[in-house]
Amino acid sequence: MTSAGKPRLVMCRPDYFEVSYAINPWMDPKSWDGERDELTRRSQAEWQSLVQVFTGLGADVEFLAPVPGAPDLVFTANAAIVLDGKALLARFLDDERRIEEPFNEAFFRNLVQRGMLRDVQTLPKGMYQEGAGDCSWDPTRGHFWAGHGQRSRLESVDLIEDYFGRKVVPLELVDPKFYHVDTCLSVLPSGHIVYYPPAFSPDSRRLLEREAGGAAWLIAADDEDAATLAVNMVCIGDTVVMAACGERLEASINKVGFNVVRSPLTSFGMSGGAAFCLTLRIDHRSDRQSSRVAA
Ligand code: ARG
Repeated sequence: MTSAGKPRLVMCRPDYFEVSYAINPWMDPKSWDGERDELTRRSQAEWQSLVQVFTGLGADVEFLAPVPGAPDLVFTANAAIVLDGKALLARFLDDERRIEEPFNEAFFRNLVQRGMLRDVQTLPKGMYQEGAGDCSWDPTRGHFWAGHGQRSRLESVDLIEDYFGRKVVPLELVDPKFYHVDTCLSVLPSGHIVYYPPAFSPDSRRLLEREAGGAAWLIAADDEDAATLAVNMVCIGDTVVMAACGERLEASINKVGFNVVRSPLTSFGMSGGAAFCLTLRIDHRSDRQSSRVAA
């Protein structure tokens, strides 16, 4: 089992990263091709810097081996939902990403053999759920926030609840640009939630506010932050790592007790991904709930 307290992330080197198909509105293989060499170099440099930021903040990183022909394997947040040493493997909606599934499964089974996880579970056929990218653990409230309506199916909620024994709050995503919940919602360990309101249905916005405990817990990102995938952030200790961050959003995050570190990820933005997508926390424990600070 992992040593208590040290964040452990799974990441995958972008050796074969490219935009060669379009399964979300950010992806345009033609613009990638137009600048392929430069973008390939940039993605490697951006990813290396991101790893350095995380290790500099004291995180351990486990590396999933890259696979030719699986460019989106770099987005390890989509590999599985992980809590309490248990991993529920993702099942992808699109064929382009379904090829990642056997590599993810082999990787997680190996983590079990190495004692870093204790169980791995698969979803039944036809049940789509795209991992932690569409199911964020909220350590303050002790439940998950799950996206549905784009990639993951609402019906996966019951299976997630059964497997982990934890409540799942489903949020309907209504904008194809914000196709995973991690593109429009991030949970800070203080209990504050950064989100992009237009990405959610009105009912889900109400549910989010209610389950969050009121508007004081919510920090709304604006269109500009949404367009840079700023909301797709990773929090390590009291530092929030983001691809970009508008000044207003930075001030709101500072106000609730966190520093912002920018680590540009524009090449991954062309695939619709940023900091959170490129990582998967495997050390979350439901008995390590963080307590709320004053709103
Ligand atoms: N191109 C990838 C896709 O559309 C990007 C995934 C980003 N991952 C995330 N967790 N949002 O599936």
